[in-house]
Amino acid sequence: MDPVVFVLNGPNLNLLGLREPAVYGSSTLADVEALARATGDRLGLVVECRQSNHEGDLVDWIQEARTRARGIVLNAGALTHTSVAIHDAIRGVGVPTIEVHISNVHARESFRHHSYISPVAAGVIVGLGLDGYDLALQALARRIKRPDPSEPITA
Ligand code: DQA
Repeated sequence: MDPVVFVLNGPNLNLLGLREPAVYGSSTLADVEALARATGDRLGLVVECRQSNHEGDLVDWIQEARTRARGIVLNAGALTHTSVAIHDAIRGVGVPTIEVHISNVHARESFRHHSYISPVAAGVIVGLGLDGYDLALQALARRIKRPDPSEPITA
């Protein structure tokens, strides 16, 4: 059985394609999820995609990952900048989590410059559009096969 990875999207990401296309592009959440599943197939990962506008759902899913998933790709949307609960959940479960943002949050308003997730993330990818999800899955696949990141990459 291939390892399971969760791809979790937070508030307002259900509006991708409609919401601020100049910032987030014209692809929809369904496109993101189809891409993630295709990348998962290529990498030998079972990708489970979920989206919620509610902080508690994201906390529940991160907790669920403790027993069900080997990694998490997380775009927590605006909760990135506010949620101690998501920070605590990631820290608590110890499942490697890659933080993804479609836009370059550091080139935007100052309230987007701080992340509660970055200090507990295995890595952070910002500003690369939908490629960020793909790159995060690649990083997790490598990490699952090569759990000590200080080892050199051989493949
Ligand atoms: C976002 C950046 C956040 O600041 C914002 O609140 C989002 C999307 C991104 O993917 O660029 O909802 O996470």
